[in-house]
Amino acid sequence: MNPAELTPLTARGGNSVRGRARVPGDKSISHRALILGALTVGETTITGLLEGDDVLHTAAAMRALGARVERSGDGVWRVHGVGVGGFTQPDKVLDFGNSGTGCRLVIGAVAGAPVTATFDGDDSLRSRPMRRVLDPLEKLGARVLQVGEGGRLPLTLQGAADPIPIVYEPPVASAQLKSAVLLAGLAAPGETTIIEAEATRDHTERMLKHFGAKISSKPHGEHGRRIVLQGQPELEPANVFVPADPSSAAFPLVAALIAPGSELVLEAVMTNPLRTGLLTTLREMGATIEALAKRDDGGEEVADLRVVTSALKGVDVPPERAPSMIDEYPVLAVAASFAEGPTRMRGLKELRVKESDRLAATADMLRANGVTIEIEGDDLIVHGKGRPAGGGEVKTHMDHRIAMSALVLGLATENPVRIDDSAFIATSFPGFVELMRSIGADLT
Ligand code: S3P
Repeated sequence: MNPAELTPLTARGGNSVRGRARVPGDKSISHRALILGALTVGETTITGLLEGDDVLHTAAAMRALGARVERSGDGVWRVHGVGVGGFTQPDKVLDFGNSGTGCRLVIGAVAGAPVTATFDGDDSLRSRPMRRVLDPLEKLGARVLQVGEGGRLPLTLQGAADPIPIVYEPPVASAQLKSAVLLAGLAAPGETTIIEAEATRDHTERMLKHFGAKISSKPHGEHGRRIVLQGQPELEPANVFVPADPSSAAFPLVAALIAPGSELVLEAVMTNPLRTGLLTTLREMGATIEALAKRDDGGEEVADLRVVTSALKGVDVPPERAPSMIDEYPVLAVAASFAEGPTRMRGLKELRVKESDRLAATADMLRANGVTIEIEGDDLIVHGKGRPAGGGEVKTHMDHRIAMSALVLGLATENPVRIDDSAFIATSFPGFVELMRSIGADLT
């Protein structure tokens, strides 16, 4: 992006965060609903779809592959699918913008169809590893016709005409990787098996079941799962309700914890246990967060979260918790800056390959604002000493979560915090600034 086009933003402390708010729909579920809708014969209606840039790129990709995808109202989308293996040859490059999830999941879906497609994205996405998904998909029969240096985008993939079911043990805990293999495995006859050493978010498995696929998921080892999918199902159209994204709710939630005098209710937040690592950790730190009106909505657990300003203490966050809060470490590090004592977050290697090197970007964000922070191997250690000074400028590196975390920080520091660019917030949380202002945040 041209520096002249950057849109800086400043957060100032002094206000409490109060009221009720509902953050946009879950990003993971939104991508999956569009893709599975496209792999179903018939019409699927999605309600509460996240209309952020990342998901809109997936919608465009489904159109380019032959599905009819229409917006019929606020967050209401209809998808007329083409069936498993039914994609048509796209006549343009599939551009995923900033979205690793959209790109990797659609690579998986294309791997099981007799079409050739080229995948690309912005500079951030072009720097992220794609080899991890290509390896198992090649075993399944897909062919990589062209790929950038180091297994990066742009890449061209020829889907398998006769995909072979595989048994796969992912070398990294990644729901994107697991989902790519499952989506490809849909088109293979027989059983596709995934053995996860660490369980990752299971939205693909849940939604496949919702669309009528036969899929089982059983505990494996101490923290893992063994997932078995029966290939070549006739997926039946099924309406999808998208609950509020817990990874987006994390920002106003932490703001309420650290801004004095706050009380906030976040409505209909998804509380799938594979996504609630942040809530577990914040509660261990002393946060008062109540889950009210717990319910089940469209196959996912949901609750209203009531949060009040809380005195926090530093904790040790175990590495096995990482998959259930992988996107929440930058904002957890913000909360930890306001705690008494050190917080050590262990096993964060995967943060280096997110939208930015989030380990480095989180450390830089806090250091620039007077917080003592260290990186030791794959661990991040934040030395909390109460309220940080703030007053720094944060480089966001095309990373929405660094941008939002830095703004949350600035809502409770002594001096304002400025970010260099707020544009990428729209990838996952359109309306962030307006929502935060509506609950009292001073953002200009
Ligand atoms: C996601 C999985 C995670 C997460 C991403 C969304 C998903 O990535 O960071 O924001 O929807 O499957 P990894 O699979 O790379 O851990």
